Amino acid sequence: MPIRNRLAELHDEITVWRHHLHETPELLFDVHETAGFVEARLREIGVDDIATGIGRTGVVATIKGRSNSSGRVIGLRADMDALPITEATGLPYASKVPGKMHACGHDGHTSILLGAAKYLAETRNFDGTVVLIFQPAEEGGGGGKEMCDDGLMDRWGIQEVYGLHNMPGLPVGEFAIRPGALLASADEFEITVTGKGGHAASPHDAVDTTLVAAQILISLQTVVSRNVNPIHRVVLTVGTFETDSAASNVIAHTARMKGTVRTLDTDARVLAEERIRRIATDTASALGATAEVAWMPGYPPTVNTPQETEYAVRAALAVSGKVNDAADPIMPAEDFAYMLEERPGAYIFLGNGDTQMCHHPAYQFDDEAIPLGCSWFAEIVEQRMPASPA
Ligand code: NI
Repeated sequence: MPIRNRLAELHDEITVWRHHLHETPELLFDVHETAGFVEARLREIGVDDIATGIGRTGVVATIKGRSNSSGRVIGLRADMDALPITEATGLPYASKVPGKMHACGHDGHTSILLGAAKYLAETRNFDGTVVLIFQPAEEGGGGGKEMCDDGLMDRWGIQEVYGLHNMPGLPVGEFAIRPGALLASADEFEITVTGKGGHAASPHDAVDTTLVAAQILISLQTVVSRNVNPIHRVVLTVGTFETDSAASNVIAHTARMKGTVRTLDTDARVLAEERIRRIATDTASALGATAEVAWMPGYPPTVNTPQETEYAVRAALAVSGKVNDAADPIMPAEDFAYMLEERPGAYIFLGNGDTQMCHHPAYQFDDEAIPLGCSWFAEIVEQRMPASPA
């Protein structure tokens, strides 16, 4: 029996929650209505306690098992925030908030964790404690980090932590995961080059900032092709490039470029920063200009620990039997990474079928994935903390 009967029964109710959340998307830490909705459902469900305002607007709740001889505490996490995108799905329950959309399926993740909570609070067929973590600001705000900084792991005594994300393109009913890095780090940089502006016809009296910046931009690609060990995956993209000259006959005085670096491990991440700084400053210097590099560290890589990945695979096998346990890593970032820096755990992809990719205005979360996600969370809890025989 892949999906628990009770969770199949709850499917319609959880879908109603999901559609409500979908209609009322909120951004970053400003998820007051969503957190309020989560809190209200948790009260109805009858969890043992609820704390709000963790990591600004996060919600944490606990469910105690029938017994607690294991002393084990497992954290289950969902994200609550939406994206600044205008929805183009035409769904009857499409976003009612202009310019905001649940285009990453976090409405699905929140509903799935609420559904699992309802099942676990009803059955309590485990020996230990479950901590439910509903976080704000996954989409670039570092809400997971704020919750950790608020003492999430120690305050609730969490020993292991698990999370999931829907995956368009992976059939509903299938899971994908791998031990080690599953998602990348995402750092940003900004390079400001200053030369000496002047008349385009008198380059000898100027320092051509645009040319210097262009040399830097091209040389940056040697970080990936020449410095990083080829068995490691790194992406370096310069997304913007502009100068302060607005005319074809003016040599610019300053130029600015912004980019992002994605890596799957800390060594490559450190190396990339070091090389980018060096290439920018030394290239500028060689050509008579100066370069300043601002480094904005973002999310670290999301790294699954091997043992907990096995537990996650075992749970997924029990739910659907279809698990790719050697999935390719992908280069977006995910701030569940901060929780995995503090505790062992695993993050899994839940099949979301044939739809546009996340962050697209026509992206759709597939409600058929709900009971599978709920069952996976429930399996983790019941397999890791088996109830002692009565
Ligand atoms: Ni997401």
